[in-house]
Amino acid sequence: MSARIAVLAGDGIGPEIVAEALKLLDCLRADFGLEVELDAAAIGGAGYDQHGDPLPQATLDLCRAADAILFGAIGGPTYDRLERDLRPERGLLRLRAELGLFSNLRPAILYPQLAEASSLKNELVAGLDIMIVRELVGGIYFGQPRGIRELEGGERQAFNTMVYAEHEIERIARSAFDIAMLRNRKLCSVDKANVLEVSELWREVVTRVAADYPDVELSHLYVDNASMQLVRAPKQFDVIVTSNLFGDILSDTAAMLTGSIGMLPSASLDAGGKGLYEPVHGSAPDIAGKGLANPLATILSLAMLLRYSLKQARLAGRIETAVGNVLNQGFRTLDIADGGHSVSTAEMGDAVVAALRELA
Ligand code: IPM
Ligand code: MG
Repeated sequence: MSARIAVLAGDGIGPEIVAEALKLLDCLRADFGLEVELDAAAIGGAGYDQHGDPLPQATLDLCRAADAILFGAIGGPTYDRLERDLRPERGLLRLRAELGLFSNLRPAILYPQLAEASSLKNELVAGLDIMIVRELVGGIYFGQPRGIRELEGGERQAFNTMVYAEHEIERIARSAFDIAMLRNRKLCSVDKANVLEVSELWREVVTRVAADYPDVELSHLYVDNASMQLVRAPKQFDVIVTSNLFGDILSDTAAMLTGSIGMLPSASLDAGGKGLYEPVHGSAPDIAGKGLANPLATILSLAMLLRYSLKQARLAGRIETAVGNVLNQGFRTLDIADGGHSVSTAEMGDAVVAALRELA
């Protein structure tokens, strides 16, 4: 039976970059015998424009029925004035929560061909390969109570709640330990246990789970120190596991270590292997529609989709090899061109397709 992929292109550069990943899927079908069915649906600002909802019911239904979701990007200045629940970001947050996509994998890999792109000294980042595992459906992003209330005298007060139950910590910890076992078996858990009770429990549960993974070397860092270590000596890290908010922040830092956020994919997985795959960069409204965006993060997200949800590790590897080959051939989009010659979004996608064909 063929796998079903829901394709949610979204806003800004979303449709352009997803179009390039779809070219690769066509090639995988034609030349590599991959059997997949694709269904497109609206999300984010596009969902609001077409159905008055950043996560239309039909889109949610489609995603529930799919084996995996390929996601572009959401958001744009035209939607910033909408009330909070109608904003594009809410569509993505609700989709993560509705599907229970609790484990967010954000690799930060420095391609040797792009070593000059990093703002850090080459010796600090050469060979960098970190995996951040971010809890994605709990913590302060979703904790109750939340809101803005009026105090006596009319002053307003805003509040959010950072909350984790033991089972939520345990499942993300297991997810991170499992990934560490497939890599260099080093896991660093990041929290703020010197100040927050929620982090105290986090540390206790992660330490408890570690007993089931005697081969993994576990360490703990406070988040302020972790952010410092990431720019001081990033290669000390293999896998990092952390909560929703800390992971949001640290994964942007880690992305920038590579100097090319346009290269970084991500996966958000549920307990059963279903996942949503999206580039780490956003919708970049300033360059939307101009053919300037780098499609490689989306193409590499497709590789993660093949590996984690479709269990097609060989095809995933082929895509990653093809991306490496086009970089070796000198193809660069504007964001990674370092002032040199650059190609368009579509030219980059075509180059990867050509490189992939050669591997058939
Ligand atoms: C991310 C983004 C989202 C988040 C926004 C768009 C809601 O920053 O995926 O990191 O904060 O999770
Ligand atoms: Mg973020």
